[in-house]
Amino acid sequence: MEVDDQVVEWRRHLHRHPEPSFEEHETARFVAETLEGLGGLNVERPTETSVLARLSTGRPGPTVALRADIDALPIAEESGVEFASERPGLMHACGHDGHTAMLLGAARELLAQELPGGEIRFLFQHAEELAPGGARDMVAAGVMDGVDLVYGCHLWTPLEYGKVVARPGPFMAAADFFKLTVTGRGGHAGLPHTADDTIAAAAAIVTGLQHIVARRIDPLQPAVVTVGSLHAGDAPNVIPGEAVLTGTTRSFDAATREQLPRLIEQVATSVAAAHGTSAELDYRFGYTPVVNDPTATALVQDAIGDRLADLKPIMGGDDFSAFLQHAPGCYAFIGAGGEFPHHHPRFRIDERALALGTRLHVQVALQALGEMT
Ligand code: NI
Repeated sequence: MEVDDQVVEWRRHLHRHPEPSFEEHETARFVAETLEGLGGLNVERPTETSVLARLSTGRPGPTVALRADIDALPIAEESGVEFASERPGLMHACGHDGHTAMLLGAARELLAQELPGGEIRFLFQHAEELAPGGARDMVAAGVMDGVDLVYGCHLWTPLEYGKVVARPGPFMAAADFFKLTVTGRGGHAGLPHTADDTIAAAAAIVTGLQHIVARRIDPLQPAVVTVGSLHAGDAPNVIPGEAVLTGTTRSFDAATREQLPRLIEQVATSVAAAHGTSAELDYRFGYTPVVNDPTATALVQDAIGDRLADLKPIMGGDDFSAFLQHAPGCYAFIGAGGEFPHHHPRFRIDERALALGTRLHVQVALQALGEMT
C-alpha cells in the first residue's frame, strides 16, 4: 500500500480507538507493533504508554528527534465520520490520531531512504492533554539525551489545508492550572442570613477574576484567566457549604506567569471574605511556553518551501516545550482546514493534510541530517 493511504488507514484505526491521557495502553501497543513490523528500528518503551523508536545509521552525525502526541480527549464524538470513536465518551478531537499516523508514515519512509549519518528518534508521546503532561516523563527516561534538534507538528483546522506555519520565537503559551474551593456554612435557601452563600461568592469570584487581565496585568503582556468549571449544590432549596471552581491561566512572559497565582489568590480570598465565606487556592504550574529556535525554524521553513504561512502566536499550550528545554527545535502547525475548533465534539480534519505532514517529517529529518552531518 502507498504510504499516504497507509497513513490514512492508521489514522482511522486510531480514531476509532481513542484513549485518554496516561491510559494509552492499546495505542502504545499498536504504535510499537507497527514500528516493529517495519523492521530496522530499535523500539523501546520509555514509560508505560509511550514509545521511542531509533533509526541509527551507525555512522557519525547528528541526532534528530521527531515527536507525535498520541492521546485523546474525554469528549463524546458527534463528528458523523464513518470511522467515529467506538469508545463512548472518548474522542480524538485534537488530531493526535493524525500526528501518530503521520510519524509512523515518516518512519516507514525514512527506513527506505539513504541516510548520510547520525540517528533519527521517533517519539510517540503520551498525555499531552493533561498536566503535568507526558513529555517530562519521557525526558526523564532519557529520550532527549544527545538530541541535536527536535521537531514536532500539530494539525490545525483554523488554518487552511496546504499551508504550514513555522514561526521563530514564542509560539504557544505557558499553560498553568488552578482550583479554588469556596467554603462556608451551608443552610436553608429560604433563610440565607443563617448561612454563608458559597454560590453567590463563587459567582462574584468568577467576575472578579476577569479584572486580573483587564486591570492588573501589563496590557502589553498577553495573559488569559479562564474558569472552566464551577460545581456547587444539589437542590434548589439548599445553600451548599462548598463551591469548587477550576481553571487555567496562559501567559508568555515569565514575570507575568509568576504574578498570576498571587493575583488569583488575592481576588478569591478577598471576594470570598466579603461574602462571609473563605477560599483556598491550589495552583499548579503546567507547561512552559513553546519557543521555537530561530536556526531550527529556518531549517523547517526550508523544508516547508512555498507552503509557508504566518500565524500569530496562540494562547494554547503544548508540552512539546519540555523537549525544547533539552534541544533547539521547532513546533510547526499544519493546515487541516475544518469547520469546528479543536476539542469540539464535531471536530474533523481535512485528511489530505496527513500526506503533507508525513512528508514534512521526512524532509526535516533528511535536511537536518544532511546539513548537520
Ligand atoms: Ni493537540
